Amino acid sequence: MAIEVSVNGSPRHIEADPDTPLLRVLRDTLGLTGAKYGCGEGLCGACAVLVDGHAVNSCVTPLSAVAGSKVTTVEGLETNGRLHPMQQAFLDKGAMQCAYCTPGMILGAISLLNTKPAPTEADIVEAMDGHICRCGTYPRIVDAIRLAASRQAGNRPR
Ligand code: FES
Ligand code: FES
Repeated sequence: MAIEVSVNGSPRHIEADPDTPLLRVLRDTLGLTGAKYGCGEGLCGACAVLVDGHAVNSCVTPLSAVAGSKVTTVEGLETNGRLHPMQQAFLDKGAMQCAYCTPGMILGAISLLNTKPAPTEADIVEAMDGHICRCGTYPRIVDAIRLAASRQAGNRPR
């Protein structure tokens, strides 16, 4: 079956079983390996991508669920060679160690700011609860999200 979906701004025509996990399509069909396979059960957030601006765990999202949607992976975040502000904040705060969780963390954090531009620390902890970092960089991740939110607020027209 053919499914039309926008991936990182490009229209894609994908021939696959509609039940195929989105993560498999991204990694194996489209060669976008930024989204990682962790648990495969929707429990760790390593595979998170944005679908129409909201983070979903692509390992448990069937291809059919994103038909006609806009999917964004970590590869699609930079603009004209410039990192997305959330990527820059993660770098500036050193919010990673092995970085296996980082793409999912960044997309989860962008999703949070899309719905709540000025989150409290409690909001951040709650929203990122489904993202696991085996290296334990949580405090720096929270700092990075706060930094991105404050930069975003500074750039917002008043
Ligand atoms: S690999 Fe998808 S949530 Fe863990
Ligand atoms: S930096 Fe290693 S799992 Fe998060």
